[in-house]
Amino acid sequence: MKELEERIQADGRVLGADILKVDSFLNHQIDPALMQRMGQEFADLFADQTITKVVTVEASGIAPAVMAGLALNVPVVFARKSKSRILSDEAFAADVYSYTKQTTNQIRIDKRFLAATDQVLLIDDFLANGQALLGMKDIVDQAGATIVGAGIVIEKSFQPGRDNANQAGLTRIESLAKIAAFEDGQVVFDQA
Ligand code: G4P
Repeated sequence: MKELEERIQADGRVLGADILKVDSFLNHQIDPALMQRMGQEFADLFADQTITKVVTVEASGIAPAVMAGLALNVPVVFARKSKSRILSDEAFAADVYSYTKQTTNQIRIDKRFLAATDQVLLIDDFLANGQALLGMKDIVDQAGATIVGAGIVIEKSFQPGRDNANQAGLTRIESLAKIAAFEDGQVVFDQA
């Protein structure tokens, strides 16, 4: 998505070897108009699919997921991160390890909000190592629902997230911006 790439070039900041800071428009301060256009882009990219629900993880996935849900006219459910290690019978749960933060979060979705009949679009802000996607897939699988694909705002193609997701059977991943590398503090995008 050209507008997103231009915004990343204008307002993103590369931190160290592999982190892109986009907190001025994506995951701290939010540009709602851009977010809405990204939601529409996800809806267009998956227009060939029947989707009954959008699933994401708090916190930063919620904004793009809500905009995708708005464009698709379906409910959005976000997995909550919980410090509790105690499994409830009332929730589907999965462990998600964050390489960036070096912590494990249990993510949970109340069983009332996922049914075996659901056709689910997964949404997240970043695809890095793929652990969040794998955790969401685990939960949707527990519900017996179907995943139609995953929509990602920013994919770092030089990290193993897509491969890890593909190996887990998540084969349809649409990313609005794909970053091939950071070179001298500059973002280099994958050629479309
Ligand atoms: P993974 O889910 O693809 O495996 O990602 P990883 O463990 O590497 O990253 C963990 C967290 O760091 C995720 O947020 C992810 O969105 C975020 N992250 C990964 N790479 C970048 C990056 O280059 N820039 C920024 N800004 N964030 C990145 P999270 O823990 O779920 O946090 P949040 O949703 O509560 O913000």
